[in-house]
Amino acid sequence: METTKVKRDSFTTGLGVIAATLGSAVGLGNIWKFPALTGLNGGAAFIIIYLLSTLMAGLPIMISELLLGRRSKSDALTTFRVLYPKRESWALIGAAGVVSAFLILAFYTEVAGWVVAYVFKALSGNILSSDPKVTGAAFERLITDPYQSILWQCVVLVYVGIIIILGVSKGIESTTKKLMPVLFLILVLIGIRNLTLPGAAAGLNFLFHPDFSKVTGAVVLTAMGLAFFKLSVGMGTMITYGSYFRDDQNIPMTAVRVMLADLTVSILAGIAIFPAVFTYGFKPEAGPSLLFITIPAVFSQMPFGRVFVVAFFVLGAIAATGAMLSIMEVPVAYLHQRFGVSRVKATVLTVVLLALIGSTAALSNSVLANFKVFGMTMFDLYDFLTSNLLMPLGGLFICIFVGWVWGKEKVAAVLSNDGALHNSAVISIFLFIVRYVAPVTILVILLRGLKII
Ligand code: PHE
Repeated sequence: METTKVKRDSFTTGLGVIAATLGSAVGLGNIWKFPALTGLNGGAAFIIIYLLSTLMAGLPIMISELLLGRRSKSDALTTFRVLYPKRESWALIGAAGVVSAFLILAFYTEVAGWVVAYVFKALSGNILSSDPKVTGAAFERLITDPYQSILWQCVVLVYVGIIIILGVSKGIESTTKKLMPVLFLILVLIGIRNLTLPGAAAGLNFLFHPDFSKVTGAVVLTAMGLAFFKLSVGMGTMITYGSYFRDDQNIPMTAVRVMLADLTVSILAGIAIFPAVFTYGFKPEAGPSLLFITIPAVFSQMPFGRVFVVAFFVLGAIAATGAMLSIMEVPVAYLHQRFGVSRVKATVLTVVLLALIGSTAALSNSVLANFKVFGMTMFDLYDFLTSNLLMPLGGLFICIFVGWVWGKEKVAAVLSNDGALHNSAVISIFLFIVRYVAPVTILVILLRGLKII
């Protein structure tokens, strides 16, 4: 095993750790995916399955990844080599994570590009109309224009790249520390505004009243995929971030806090959207276009509508920032640590590669609209492959590694901060979930969702 030794940057304060980790979890997943998927798949029924998947798989895997990273103080790939040098093949989990990072960013930066474009378009007022046909046509114009699609994606990539170059503490930590409070503030303001609308009761009823008739194996897999995507687990992000954690950070507590805060953001996003949708007679099942077509149409009917549309897309851009930083950090940390490449070079290389791969997603609604694999455009394929296959599989192997391979004593040692925390009950419950509950849940949902059993 040879790893290049480089001096490592890390998060500096407890608050910084929470801001960065929560910044990774909160993202377009809360604002774009969560409401759209909830709207499509039966409201609260979907939320319940999502919550169960979070408790039985997402959260324990998040804790597992943080433990691995903090102990190895290494990137997602090197972690497995450091912790288990006997068998190098475990590092494949990290390698798959680096691949997933590229695939996620390929479509994520595109959606983030639309969000940023919409901030400007909303400011100038040209996407505002109470008629969804008009807002739909405006969205269509943006996504079918190959130049605009590529341009906005590149703007986002460069912006994220610059923060990454600034480093872990001066870039990621300080940015997320400033942005997270702003995000909560905007979300709460929009939520309060929405709760005073006449359709508030109908919106909340939709959000909290389960309709299980829409639940199928595929829906359960989608809900579990969302749980992985939301907590940024199964692809090495939390291993990488764990490696920047301080040794006295209480990992299970941090993970639970991040999970709860992230869930709060999702629910608040639902409260910021569905009451307005019901008030103005729109359908909640609009899917991914809910954010770009329904929101501008609905919000522009409210008093001070333009302010709220701008605020909403600023919120989206802020949320996307912390998430993209954490995904890009996975390959950058790997290149930096493994090959001793400087952060600047590692970032430039990653951004250039991403611009290339990402363009196939960016052009999925124009030049490459008819290029389909398994009936999906590249954009949809990257999304499906990562959330519904790679992340659950990555999570499954991480559970097996932590629960069965790495060794109980080692898990107990990191989990208790080498004996400083007296949390033996937490350790037993954690080990039970990671050894049995999580792997079985993931396997069954994966096989049913993909119609293999
Ligand atoms: N959790 C982020 C979101 O909800 C997405 C993400 C996925 C971030 C994987 C990091 C790793 O938007």
